[in-house]
Amino acid sequence: MFNNIGSKKIFLISCMTIGSLFIVLYFTKNSTTSQLIYTTPISFTNDHVGWITSSSLYKEMNLYLKLIRNKNEQNIFQGKRSLNYNYIKFIKKNTWNQYPFSTRKCSNTSNQELSTGIEYCLLTNIYYNSAIDQYYYYQNPADIQIITKTIELDVSYGKLTLNILNDILEIKKLIISSVLIRPIYVGGPIDPNYAHGLLETFGPRFWVLSELQSNGLFINSSQFQIYYTSHMFNTSIRNWRLYDRQSDGTYRDTVKWSATIQSMFSDYPLLIYKSFNETTVMFKYFITTGNQVSRTPAWDFYYSVSRSFRFHPFHTRQYRRNYLAYSEWLLKNLNLPSKFQLTSTQEQLQQNHMSELIPICDPICRPKWSKSSEYNEKEFTGDWIVVINRVGSGRREITNADELVDALLKVFPDHTNPYLRVWPKQFNFKDDLYKTAQMARSIRLMIGVHGAGLANTIFMRPGTILYEINPIGCRKLSFNFHRWATIFNLQHALWSPSQKGFLIQDDACQNRQEATTLVISEIVKEVVNLIENEQEYRNGYIRRALHLLNDTSLTDHPQIGLEKI
Ligand SMILES: *[C@@H]1O[C@H](CO)[C@@H](O)[C@H](O)[C@H]1NC(C)=O
Ligand SMILES: *[C@@H]1O[C@H](CO)[C@@H](O)[C@H](O)[C@H]1NC(C)=O
Ligand SMILES: *[C@@H]1O[C@H](CO)[C@@H](O)[C@H](O)[C@H]1NC(C)=O
Ligand SMILES: *[C@@H]1O[C@H](CO)[C@@H](O)[C@H](O)[C@H]1NC(C)=O
Ligand SMILES: *[C@@H]1O[C@H](CO)[C@@H](O)[C@H](O)[C@H]1NC(C)=O
Repeated sequence: MFNNIGSKKIFLISCMTIGSLFIVLYFTKNSTTSQLIYTTPISFTNDHVGWITSSSLYKEMNLYLKLIRNKNEQNIFQGKRSLNYNYIKFIKKNTWNQYPFSTRKCSNTSNQELSTGIEYCLLTNIYYNSAIDQYYYYQNPADIQIITKTIELDVSYGKLTLNILNDILEIKKLIISSVLIRPIYVGGPIDPNYAHGLLETFGPRFWVLSELQSNGLFINSSQFQIYYTSHMFNTSIRNWRLYDRQSDGTYRDTVKWSATIQSMFSDYPLLIYKSFNETTVMFKYFITTGNQVSRTPAWDFYYSVSRSFRFHPFHTRQYRRNYLAYSEWLLKNLNLPSKFQLTSTQEQLQQNHMSELIPICDPICRPKWSKSSEYNEKEFTGDWIVVINRVGSGRREITNADELVDALLKVFPDHTNPYLRVWPKQFNFKDDLYKTAQMARSIRLMIGVHGAGLANTIFMRPGTILYEINPIGCRKLSFNFHRWATIFNLQHALWSPSQKGFLIQDDACQNRQEATTLVISEIVKEVVNLIENEQEYRNGYIRRALHLLNDTSLTDHPQIGLEKI
């Protein structure tokens, strides 16, 4: 029943029954007689064995957690957030006589690769005639820099034009019906595709707003109201379906995940250009934050045709930091643990100077295991190995995903292991951001075909593994996911079928939706190797991620005077 696996590992493989595997915690120091193979080598730093094998890193992690806890306390999302409606001041017609001049202040960013780095602009007293969809800048004639016609502002979807007005009589023709008293962030459409929306539109919005608040780590949601101009609705009719008009003229996202994230950004209801019932309003504070050219997400190489953003305007480290901060902020708002927070079982290992014990069974041994055994998922605080598959969708499917799950269940035979388990069936994320993030946060190795589900790798801990499956010939696709893995501080593995014949070239992705049949034994062997070595990588990845997050040279800060609005 026991097989010696030869020279590489000193340990023997055990194919015991689940019952006999119940050695919950185990000192690796005393483990030489064990018949279990370990995923974790004996500590190589020598000073400390634990879930993290470096005590200095463990200290740094706790330091960071303390900082985050203090800074971001009020921002916790607990189900429904009640909105604050104190954002508008109605003006009785013909009684308002103020019409203050507009002002504008812009700030350059550190983005060296653009011809101009100008990004954040804070304007005050911007007039908007919603009946004809026109914006006005009421210029002070005493200004040194007189502008004659229009001002063009970079906003996330392109340009926004302000008409210049100099004449008090002209401006008074715009009968103001209300003043928007909160700082208004002028934004572009949220891509309704989960991956594109989560990573490419909400992500950059987070970076610029958190930087504008001079911290780069969170958004103070009481400080911004979100506003969409007509452009998003004119350019894409489908955007209308994403928002519901409320009786007071404000709007609500109809897509659940998007609504959840929206509520993290702002305590105030969403406004669009139709909110003002064809009246003229004044925006007290009008904020623009540059466009996608300067803050495009990091992987638009492949999507550049349909989503016409430029790619890689920032350095990799900046993206790493930004997505890390963004994901931490999302987790925090969902009331989920930080990526740097040990779970209770991990903490226990840390305190007791122990390593994880995860039995691995060679494929040739046959453990007695049962799929129907109790999983006790509620109490489980360890990590998962999951196989995600779009079962039955007919697109990008793995044809033999069940077979892979079965093989993994055999190789990781302890299905009650407190540290690592194989998800016992094909996995798919739910349409619930909380559940999705919670699950992804505890995935140690995710195997899946390219697709929106892989976007959830953003919630995975640094050093965990994205194992990408690609249809034959579609090697270009892995550019994106390898890049995601890099940016999200993950390890990356790739499997693609070998050539069917010489007709299919490496770069001839004939059908990126094509189903893929896996060679199970190859993948299982690689999974075992990746899992066995994860702990050694874990320390390095976590350390690097923490240092990136703490590196203030990677964030931009607006000019003095812009940060206090
Ligand atoms: C972050 O950097 C500051 C100084 O730049 C340092 O004092 C602090 O300990 C660092 N924190 C972490 C968690 O690395
Ligand atoms: C921003 O940078 C441009 C050149 O890249 C420069 O001409 C301009 O003066 C800078 N503006 C500010 C406000 O620093
Ligand atoms: C958020 O902004 C409000 C209003 O400006 C302020 O009172 C509060 O202290 C801020 N919260 C944090 C955590 O900075
Ligand atoms: C959007 O469309 C409306 C109606 O078709 C038009 O009046 C308005 O000028 C358009 N706005 C922009 C920014 O294209
Ligand atoms: C628009 O109309 C709704 C009623 O339909 C009203 O509640 C809301 O205050 C109006 N908004 C503005 C800016 O006038």
